[in-house]
Amino acid sequence: MTRIDSTTPPTTATLQPLAAGALVHAGAGEAPEWWRDAVIYQVYPRSFADGDGDGIGDLPGITSKLDHLAELGVDAVWLSPFYRSPQKDAGYDVADYRDVDPLFGTLADFDELLAQAHARGIRVIVDLVPNHTSDQHAWFQAALASPEGSAERGRYVFREGEGEHGELPPNNWQSIFGGPAWTRVTAGAGARPVTGAADEVPGQWYLHLFDSSQPDLDWENPEVRSEFEDVLRFWLDKGVDGFRIDVAHGMVKAPGLPDWDGSVSMVEGTEGGGASDEVVDPGAPEDGSTGAGNSGPMFDQDGVHEIYRAWHRVLAEYDGDRALVAEAWVEPLSRLARYVRPDEMHQAFNFSFLTTPWSAAPLRTVIAASLRANDEVGAPTTWVLSNHDVVRHASRLGLADPGLRPNGIFAHEAQPDEELGLRRARAASLLMLGLPGSSYLYQGEELGLPEHTALPDDVREDPAFFRTQGAEAGRDGCRVPLPWHAEAPGHGFGPTGRTWLPQPESYARYAADVQRGVAGSTYETYRAALATRRAERLGTGTLAWVEEHAGSDDVIALRNRDVVVLTNLGSDPVVLPRGVEVLVASGPVRTDRSADPQVRVPSDTTVWLRAL
Ligand code: NOJ
Repeated sequence: MTRIDSTTPPTTATLQPLAAGALVHAGAGEAPEWWRDAVIYQVYPRSFADGDGDGIGDLPGITSKLDHLAELGVDAVWLSPFYRSPQKDAGYDVADYRDVDPLFGTLADFDELLAQAHARGIRVIVDLVPNHTSDQHAWFQAALASPEGSAERGRYVFREGEGEHGELPPNNWQSIFGGPAWTRVTAGAGARPVTGAADEVPGQWYLHLFDSSQPDLDWENPEVRSEFEDVLRFWLDKGVDGFRIDVAHGMVKAPGLPDWDGSVSMVEGTEGGGASDEVVDPGAPEDGSTGAGNSGPMFDQDGVHEIYRAWHRVLAEYDGDRALVAEAWVEPLSRLARYVRPDEMHQAFNFSFLTTPWSAAPLRTVIAASLRANDEVGAPTTWVLSNHDVVRHASRLGLADPGLRPNGIFAHEAQPDEELGLRRARAASLLMLGLPGSSYLYQGEELGLPEHTALPDDVREDPAFFRTQGAEAGRDGCRVPLPWHAEAPGHGFGPTGRTWLPQPESYARYAADVQRGVAGSTYETYRAALATRRAERLGTGTLAWVEEHAGSDDVIALRNRDVVVLTNLGSDPVVLPRGVEVLVASGPVRTDRSADPQVRVPSDTTVWLRAL
């Protein structure tokens, strides 16, 4: 590629350093609603901070760390579920949607958290899990207690089995976590899962796209619809600013629940199902698809949109621009954009971006395709690189093949290169935060935390590990309790040093207290990026590719308002033209030009620049 070099004879690029081409995205001007450009920080309550010393994080723990989030500069937090739950899937198995699990505190603790966050100008989004309940939910208990054909069973997806005696599941669907998506119960009222005991009379089957402890609700049932509208109101009345909607593409199933012939590739992101280490073709399709989308008769059915239109109307009754964000593993991006049409949800996580390999051309493709698809419906793009379901990007990007997307990493498997992964993760985050739209951060990424890749199997809790009979490590490695103080027991996670999962030794190096105030630390880099992003209004900004690099295999360079975001993914340094000021850098970039006027951007580094 042609490199910008102040010593080379003038070319178009050097005469007009970092000149941008046509606009790919015109920008939102000013954000009429807060969520259009917000940086939203995901708190995974059991692993954020422990207030009571039982080794599991809780709501008072979160409240005690709000100053950290305010200092970091985020606009909002999204709290993963903290509701009453037997914790078979870390709270994504809800037994009571209107109460706090005693593990995490009380409703009063929630009110306090919300008030304290709002006092700091931080909005709060809670997680809603409407596709399924826990098997301990009163509704499912009532369904088991009631006979076939009862109204109680009608809230879930109970069906007769196939085969002469109904001994085969109603269809061939597989659970996202591995194994069949159906469990059979005994016949009649007072049912329980069949065990094969001789005196048992087997009866119907119930559907669970996830664990057998997570029965799917029947969203054709009006009672289910009105119940969830009521749950929305319960939390809206408390003052929450929005909801992250779990499995937003899964609630409505194809009529008749037909068999699906593509069950091998049925994965939700990297959760279970067997396609998790699929390598993405570097020549990504123009629509930005990466293989991250679910398909089949259980996902992305047109009927699901009516639910979100109804919910949009519920939220619109409340002041303050409350927002719905879709967790929908849907591709292509034009199909995902249907969830954020003007009368539906407000944001949808961009998992195509998350799953794009560390490679310039596919990244440019997915960025442009995302903006194009969302512009069509007037919605912002919602970028994300890590969450509680995927290998942390500081480790994912350190794998020998940056296109790999394993579901967790075992100690006996090829290990990520920690230094390379962190360098790329910081560069990827700074690229993401320089894009117009909203961005989600996952707790600990501001510290550069790697995945725990050496967890012993006997501490694992993810049902995906168990339901795949240990074939997949699962998601525990990205859910390890955060290190706050390098020297304290449990790295200061809580007052007793207990942590529900062991922390890797390396976490001492990443602890918040050893990074705070240290120039160039990951934490201070995120902080600088968030402050600059706000000052430069990048979230509502524009995007045009810098012409010099528009076709480059090594460099992504874009202009957002007056800021040029340049990422060097190649192996050689990129020399910057004279007359640009480095605003933020993800790695060591010398800004003092007195000794040497050439400023170089090293490999796997992003800089934000302003033309002087
Ligand atoms: C997506 C959530 O993010 C994940 O953690 C959970 O296991 C499944 N949905 C099922 O609720």
